[in-house]
Amino acid sequence: MQKDKIHLKSPGNWINDPNGFIYYRGKYHLFYQYFPWAPQWGTMHWGHAVSKDLVNWEHQEIALFPTKYEDQNGCFSGSALEYRGRLYLYYTGVHYHQPDPDNIHLCRNEQFLSSQMLITSRDGMRFDNFHNKSVIIPCMEENGPGDRTHTRDPKVWRGSDAWYMVLGSTDGDGLGKLLFYRSTDLTDWKFVNAVSGKNGFGWMWECPDYFETEGGGVLLLSPMEIMKDGKKDTAQTICMPVEFEETTCTMQIPNTYQFVDYGLDLYAAQTTLDEEGRRTMVAWMRMPQPVDGAWSGMFCIPRVVELRKGHVYFRVHPNIEKMYTKQILYVSEADRAGYKISVDIGDGESIGIGGYWIFRRGCHICTDRSNVFGRHTDYRLQFMTPEIKEGYHLDIYVDHHLIEIFINDGEYVLSNVVYGLDNRIQTDIEAGYRMYTLES
Ligand code: FRU
Repeated sequence: MQKDKIHLKSPGNWINDPNGFIYYRGKYHLFYQYFPWAPQWGTMHWGHAVSKDLVNWEHQEIALFPTKYEDQNGCFSGSALEYRGRLYLYYTGVHYHQPDPDNIHLCRNEQFLSSQMLITSRDGMRFDNFHNKSVIIPCMEENGPGDRTHTRDPKVWRGSDAWYMVLGSTDGDGLGKLLFYRSTDLTDWKFVNAVSGKNGFGWMWECPDYFETEGGGVLLLSPMEIMKDGKKDTAQTICMPVEFEETTCTMQIPNTYQFVDYGLDLYAAQTTLDEEGRRTMVAWMRMPQPVDGAWSGMFCIPRVVELRKGHVYFRVHPNIEKMYTKQILYVSEADRAGYKISVDIGDGESIGIGGYWIFRRGCHICTDRSNVFGRHTDYRLQFMTPEIKEGYHLDIYVDHHLIEIFINDGEYVLSNVVYGLDNRIQTDIEAGYRMYTLES
């Protein structure tokens, strides 16, 4: 089975969202949306990878695959909980009205039914897809609180008195929507409240994730069609500080949001608590074309989420950060898992990494991947952070197909998928730069 370091990558063919991310019985389990038969999206399975440290990942057997009427056409995204030593995986099962006759992995006219489902496992390694699955929230009735087709991606957590679940949905009229459920036994879930979206925040809210941090509550959302600039991708992951009231399951959605990542390739973020109680996020980095025609999809570096003074920070997880201890002078000396460049960048200065450009214009960090992105002109090639307040220190993590720029230890992050980087570093940064790789 494939082993990955730093970035979890598709083990062949297609992956998208991270699912069921959890620290369970001394190991991190990370499942993912997986189409095992071609490097394109299709009938969803849950692939599975395990890690002791969030750095080294080992892919496992496929965990979930369709076996029931309700998940006949796919096991969509979801999340995990542990209770009394058992692993609980909540996900969305989809059933197509009519598969596309030319590709049965797709559905005709977007007509499908979505049910919320549960599968449990005694050890997190074996999943009985035939006997251990159940439907916990059947497909919505016509007058139900959510949309029959577009209601999905259960995220579950332990509250103060019960377990809670949030589902992403749409009001059917152009706004996203959240549905909140409560349970006292993990299987019987009662609808409590729906929270409607806002204009300009997309029409369907995928992959919601709500959690509390020391600085307050945070909501992550992946709204569809939030971007209106005519470029791919129109869906983006956003975050915002929120307050959640448990008894009534009410939540006020603010009028503004941050992008989780200003490179706009990141999507479908999911968090869990790490071994030390840090809120840790992973997300899918979308790739416009498979690498060598063989695999598509990878995850960002696990990032610690913190809320300070109304701003959400995404720091490199310390387990990753501490790996880059060996100083090098040339890219050719780097480990296969890549290298990191640390630099303080002055106004007007720039650094070219294998053909990818990072530069500063006043209070903004900008990037340009035009030379390292093939002919994908229907995608965005240039990027810019909002106005930066805390300084201009960059930690740039470079892997073969991904460059992640952490600004001021996570004030903002900007990450871009790239193809065909070379080994050159070109720069006019007066203060110079330092380059590190992993010890072999
Ligand atoms: C987000 C998403 C989820 C869905 C899954 C299907 O990328 O569309 O809403 O559950 O992917 O693969």
